[in-house]
Amino acid sequence: MNVSGAAVRACGLVKTHGQGQSRVRAVDEVDLEVPQGQMLAVMGPSGCGKSTLLHLLGGLERPTDGEVWVAGRRIDTLSERALARMRRRSVGFVFQAFHLVEELSAAENVELPALLAGRSRRQARRRASLLLERVGLADRARHLPSQLSGGQRQRVAVARALVNDPLVVLADEPTGNLDTAATLDVLRIFEELRSAGQTFVIVTHDERVAATADRLVSMRYGMFVDDTRLAGSHPRGLGGLIGLEG
Ligand SMILES: Nc1ncnc2c1ncn2[C@@H]1O[C@H](COP(=O)(O)OP(=O)(O)OP(=O)(O)O)[C@@H](O)[C@H]1O
Ligand SMILES: [Mg+2]
Repeated sequence: MNVSGAAVRACGLVKTHGQGQSRVRAVDEVDLEVPQGQMLAVMGPSGCGKSTLLHLLGGLERPTDGEVWVAGRRIDTLSERALARMRRRSVGFVFQAFHLVEELSAAENVELPALLAGRSRRQARRRASLLLERVGLADRARHLPSQLSGGQRQRVAVARALVNDPLVVLADEPTGNLDTAATLDVLRIFEELRSAGQTFVIVTHDERVAATADRLVSMRYGMFVDDTRLAGSHPRGLGGLIGLEG
């Protein structure tokens, strides 16, 4: 998918959770723009609002105030149905805990969102097999998630996130459950995708992951408190990571 300008944009974004005494401003007046092909990393302590922000950007939650734009289209005002369609077509989610369907094979997990988006079985199968090959798992297509390592499961989840060719991949602690070698595998895949123009917003506690981004923002109490432009990972970031391998 191709759009000019920002892939994802938010202005005056606010999300409050809870009522009365327990009311929390999880996201508090955030302005954000992620140009196509860039990777934004979001860091910050537990509870500062990182996951809530990702959910708002991907239309999994609706803001209390402010606007969210994806692919040049305002999404916070869409109907539930239109929002679900937008999510399927324009957003790929990757979660720390993988969230694969345990009863389905790796290939079937990747095919599922394509089928839900209305692709034919044949198209879905072809796309899944291409993507599994791209993440280095062509030989694991028939395996169930329980028969895969954590790193392999996350690579299946990445393939699944990409199956509908989303404008943006939103990843919440994608390497949080992975060891160093598997973290590097996932980062390499992200890097290849970004070179090909894929846009990312990645929430991470891992400095190594953040160092590969084009831009790093730090959150505290729902707000951006620091904003750093990085060189991006091509070619330095991953090079620096290789030393950490093993
Ligand atoms: N559904 C909810 N109902 C009430 N409060 C919520 C809800 N979801 C999140 N919160 C609160 O909003 C704040 C932000 O939560 P969020 O999950 O976005 O934090 P986070 O930065 O992702 O934390 P972590 O690093 O632990 O994942 C927290 O104070 C949390 O308790
Ligand atoms: Mg979180």
